[in-house]
This record gives sequence, C-alpha cells and structure tokens, in this order.
Amino acid sequence: SWTMLNIVEEQTERIREQIGGGRAICGLSGGVDSAVAAALVQRAIGDRLTCVFVDHGLLRKGEAEQVEQDFVAATGVNLHVVDASQEFLAALEGVTDPEDKRKIIGREFIRAFERAAREITADAGAHGESTEFLVQGTLYPDVVESGGGTGTANIKSHHNVGGLPDDLKFQLVEPLRWLFKDEVRKVGEELGLPSEIVWRQPFPGPGLGIRIIGEVTAQRLAILREADAIARAELTAGGVDQTVWQCPVVLLADVRSVGVQGDGRTYGHPVVLRPVTSEDAMTADWARLPYDLLARISTRITNEVREINRVVLDVTSKPPGTIEWE
Ligand code: XMP
Repeated sequence: SWTMLNIVEEQTERIREQIGGGRAICGLSGGVDSAVAAALVQRAIGDRLTCVFVDHGLLRKGEAEQVEQDFVAATGVNLHVVDASQEFLAALEGVTDPEDKRKIIGREFIRAFERAAREITADAGAHGESTEFLVQGTLYPDVVESGGGTGTANIKSHHNVGGLPDDLKFQLVEPLRWLFKDEVRKVGEELGLPSEIVWRQPFPGPGLGIRIIGEVTAQRLAILREADAIARAELTAGGVDQTVWQCPVVLLADVRSVGVQGDGRTYGHPVVLRPVTSEDAMTADWARLPYDLLARISTRITNEVREINRVVLDVTSKPPGTIEWE
C-alpha cells in the first residue's frame, strides 16, 4: 500500500544515512521482526549486511532449519551461523529468576554477535573495514514495555532492549522501533518476504528459556520442545493459526503432580497452554479454543511426552497476566 511503501522508502533512507559506508550485522531469531528488519537493511545497504543466526539452543523444534533454509532462500542474504548452545546453557546453569535469565540471554547474544562480527571482519580480510552496526528488530511495544517510552513502567526487560552489556561495541540500528506488529507484517509483504515468514506467530527472543519455569537444562528443553511441537501441530491442524495470536507452552519444571497411566503411578510435570488473542501484544485475551482441540493436544502431549502427566489451560487476560510466564 501507499503508506507501507512510504515507510519502506523512509526507513531505507534513514538506514543509509545512519550506516553510511559501514557494515552491519543483524541477528536473525526466526521471527518476523528480525526478518523484516534484516530485509529492510539489506534493501538499504545490500551485501554490506551479514545476517547472524545464533543458535542459542533455546529454539523450538525445526526453527533453526527454517532460518537457515527459508529466509536465505527468500532473500539470498549472507548468513553466518553460530552454534552457541553450550555457552548459553552453561551461563544459565542454576538461574531461576526471570529477569536474570533475560539479562544473561541478552548478554550471551551480544557476545555471540561480537564473536561473529570478528569472524566476519576477518573473512572480509584485507579491506580493513569493521562491522560497526547491529540491526535489531525492536518494535514499539518492546520499547514501551522496557521503560523506553514516555511515562511507562518497566514491566520486563525484553532481551533486545535491556540487558545489553556495558562494553557494547555496536551502534544499534532499529528500523522497526516505531511500528506495531501488524505494520511490520505489512512492511514484510511490501518487501516481498514469503507469507510463512511474514505471518509466523511471535516467539520471544529468549525462546524456551523463559518458558521453563525454574532452571533451564538440556533435558527440560528437550521435554518442552516435544510438547510445544505437538501443540503447534494440532493448533495448525485445527485451523486456528489465523485467530490465535500465539500459544506459549510453558513447562512448570519444579512442579510435580501424581498421575496414573496404564497400571502405574506417575509423578510428572505439568505444561501450561497459554493461547491468546491480541492485536499488538500490549493487551491480550485468552483464546476460547474448541474443547475438542484442547482435548487432542492434551491427549497427545501426555501420551507422547513421558515426563508430562498433566496439561493445564491459562485463562488469564493481559493485564493482569503477561503473555509469557516470565
Ligand atoms: P509479554 O509476556 O510481555 O509478551 O506479554 C508480549 C509479547 O512479546 C513477546 N516477548 C518477547 N519478544 N524478546 C522478544 O523479542 C523478549 O524478550 C520477549 N519477551 C516477550 C511475547 O512472546 C509476546 O508476543
């Protein structure tokens, strides 16, 4: 549309002004925001942008492959993949506080980026140019909720706003800073990104790390990844992807309850389904999913994921609840 074309043109111009003849890197998370931010910057500075995909080990099933295949196929962008899952897990060991998790994940992200930037610069070789700019897909609601807006309380430090280390070596480029999610999607369409990317449901930067209530471990991640994949598959099969804004699946890793399966007593963990409807994530309502769909999700998760013996539904709106549990 005319307005979106204007936003694209204006942002492209601004990005060119800010970056000049420099180089930039952009972290891809698999989500819409970073993909659209990257595509905008690529439009502005071409192959002086290198995208970095940090596999932090907190992704859902299949997400790493999606970034490595779909996005690159759509844009032809330079992609540099960093496997940092061991570092993230080590840094998160013993950590249970949500804000501590976010800060640690944010810090590790930046470290991984800095490492990647050095590698990219080294690859660029004799040119002697350095990568000075870091592109982030920060949206207006992220800015507001992290206290960056005017007169708002600090609710959660979103990892892409708060939690940056003091020795940050990049200047930030945030072309989506004044946009809401629906506008970002329109910009993505305007830029010709495929609909699987543009209409992907939101997923937080800290990933499954903030959907495990309690310490994040490799084993807990594996359990949650399976449960989440089942829920997503059934939501898609149930035809509710267009009406549900997102549906976090949350593992209550420190909670156990008694169950019975076959002839045996079980003592397993619950997962929470948190399906919500929303316009922009600032407010949300719990989604009234069909009971049959909820039943299929519950049956499959408890049958297929041995450690989970209970599935519960979150029926809280935002406010007072936030969408994520941490
Ligand atoms: P809350 O839980 O604050 O979430 O109601 C609002 C929206 O933001 C997503 N979210 C994040 N996205 N980095 C992100 O990029 C983060 O640290 C983060 N925390 C929450 C959440 O999934 C929801 O869509």
